[in-house]
Amino acid sequence: MTTQSGRVDRQTVAGIFHQTFGKAPDIVARGPGRVNLIGEHTDYNDGFVLPMAIDRAIWIALRPRRDRWVMVHFNDTKQYGEFHLDALRNTGEGSIEYVKGVAWALQEEGFFLRGWEGVVVGDVPVGAGLSSSAALEVVTARVFAAVSHCSWDPVKMALLSQRAENRWVGVQCGIMDQLISACGRADHALLIDCRSLEFQHVPLPPTVRVVILDTGTRRGLVDSAYNERRAACEHTAERFRVKALRDISLDEFERRAVEMDETTRKRVRHVISENDRTLRAAEALRQGDVTTFGRLMVESHVSLRDDFEVSSPALDAMVEIALSQPGCLGARMTGAGFGGCAVALVEAETAETFAQNVAEQYRQKTKHEPAVYISRASDGADIVA
Ligand code: GLA
Repeated sequence: MTTQSGRVDRQTVAGIFHQTFGKAPDIVARGPGRVNLIGEHTDYNDGFVLPMAIDRAIWIALRPRRDRWVMVHFNDTKQYGEFHLDALRNTGEGSIEYVKGVAWALQEEGFFLRGWEGVVVGDVPVGAGLSSSAALEVVTARVFAAVSHCSWDPVKMALLSQRAENRWVGVQCGIMDQLISACGRADHALLIDCRSLEFQHVPLPPTVRVVILDTGTRRGLVDSAYNERRAACEHTAERFRVKALRDISLDEFERRAVEMDETTRKRVRHVISENDRTLRAAEALRQGDVTTFGRLMVESHVSLRDDFEVSSPALDAMVEIALSQPGCLGARMTGAGFGGCAVALVEAETAETFAQNVAEQYRQKTKHEPAVYISRASDGADIVA
C-alpha cells in the first residue's frame, strides 16, 4: 500500500505495520535515496562528488524483540525474511540480504545488536540508479542503532553500510550513496571529499528545482561494466605510482598522456576533469551561479558519454530533450550509467511545464516510458517521531 500519488510517509508505514502486527509501531525510521548532481565515477578514485538526498526513501516501522531474531516483511515485493543474529548466513535471498549484511557489518565492528520485527516500505524506484539499496542499508543501520542503543555516527554507519554492500552483497560500490543517505540535509547538496570523508553542505538556491528524469531503461550489465571501469582506474593509478587517480594533476596527465593507450587516456581524462568540474560546480552553487553550474553539468555528461563511455542512447536522448526546453540550466546522466536516470537543473517557475514536455517528447522519440520527479533535497536517515 502506498499513498495515492505512490508516495510513502510515516502514516503509510505505521498503517502497514498496524495491519501486519495489530498495533502501532514503537519506532519508525527513514533512509532517503539520492541523486548525484555532479561528480560521477569519482568516488572510488578518492575524488569529489556532489549528491543530494531526495524526498523519496525506504522506511522501516518496527518493534524491538527481547531475543536476537530479526523478522522483516517487505511490503512492496510481498517477501518475508528472518534470521538470528548469532547465525548469519548469506543465502542470496533478495532484500533481506541487505538487512543481514548490515547486521553482519555492525557485529563485525563490535556492536552488540538486539532483534526486532517490522515492515519495510519505500518509494525509491528500484534499479533506477537512485540508490534504493543504499537507502535500505542506511535505514537498517539506523534501526539497529536505535533498538540496540548504539550511538548514531552517520559517517561511521555509512562506511559500515558500504562494507555490507561490498562484502556481503558483493557489489564494489564507492562511498557516495551511503554517505549522502546518512548525512544529507534538507535544501542542500553535499560536497564530499571521498578520501578524507570530510563534507560540506551547500545550499541549493530556492529559484531552481532538481528534476530527476528516469529513462525507463535498465541495463543488466551495469555491475560488470562498473567493476571493469573501476579496475581500469585502479590499474592506471598503480602505474602512475599514486594511491588513486585523484592524485594525478591535469598538467601531469597531459604530460604523460602519450604513455597511455587511447581507452585509458579517455577514462583518466574523465576522472581528472570531473573532479575539477565538481569543485567548480560546488563553488558556483555557493555563489548562487546556477548558469555556471548548469554548464558544468553538461560538460560532465559529454565526458561520461565520450570519455568514460557509460551513457546510453536513452540517456543521451533524455539529456538532449531536457536541454532543448526553456528554463533548463543543465542536464546530465546520473549514477553508474548505461540506463536509469538523468538529472536536470531547472528554473523553478518552469519546472512543471518542463516535466510534462520532456516526458512527452522523450516518449515520442524513444518509445520508452519515462518517469519524472521534481525533487527536493531532504535530510539524511533518521528516526521519525
Ligand atoms: C554507483 C555507485 C557509487 C558511484 C556511482 C558512480 O551509484 O554505487 O558509489 O560510484 O555509481 O558515480
